[in-house]
Amino acid sequence: MNLDIPHVCPTEISLILNNRIRRLLQNPQKILAPYVRDGMDVLEVGCGPGFFTLDIARMVGKSGRVVAVDLQEGMLAKVRENIRRSGAGQNIVLHRCDEDRIGVSGNFDFVFLFYMVHEVVDKEAFFRELESLLKKDGQVYIAEPPLHVSKKAFEETIRIAGDTGFMVVDRPKRFPDKIVVLKKA
Ligand SMILES: C[S@@+](CC[C@H](N)C(=O)[O-])C[C@H]1O[C@@H](n2cnc3c(N)ncnc32)[C@H](O)[C@@H]1O
Repeated sequence: MNLDIPHVCPTEISLILNNRIRRLLQNPQKILAPYVRDGMDVLEVGCGPGFFTLDIARMVGKSGRVVAVDLQEGMLAKVRENIRRSGAGQNIVLHRCDEDRIGVSGNFDFVFLFYMVHEVVDKEAFFRELESLLKKDGQVYIAEPPLHVSKKAFEETIRIAGDTGFMVVDRPKRFPDKIVVLKKA
């Protein structure tokens, strides 16, 4: 277990996050289809073992790019291994971040945050940094899990995002997750 950062999902459960049954329940292509296009620059923060990463890379194509970021080297190692096995994903850049700073540069079309925002300690600093990395007409997709994140906590996340320069574009429904799509206000 990752005892250094106990509020963060440990690398040991990466198999629960990346398996075929999850693909039936949360099909990455279906989830991403309304947002990701050929040629886009996509930032995925908290990519974990990369359940979504290779699909995003396929969807943005050779002229696009995915910057996949995680706190834990163990998670990034799993993504690296998936890339190696698939023979695809040459347009993926992996980056290990610090807990209080994403630390990448770029001007992204789309930011993907799946089941990770509840693990971020300083959400205000996190959203401020994201705001500086997003294109004027870019979008941020946040999905949070049903059990770990209450309705109240999710609304508080949206409030913080609002205070740091974002507005709500959509509240897609997909049981049982809590989802919001944001853009720059
Ligand atoms: C529950 S996992 C979800 C992984 C992946 N998004 C998925 O849906 O399979 C949360 C991930 O976010 C990462 N994480 C937590 N806090 C983070 C932070 N401040 N910056 C970057 N990654 C973070 C964890 O290391 C973990 O890999």
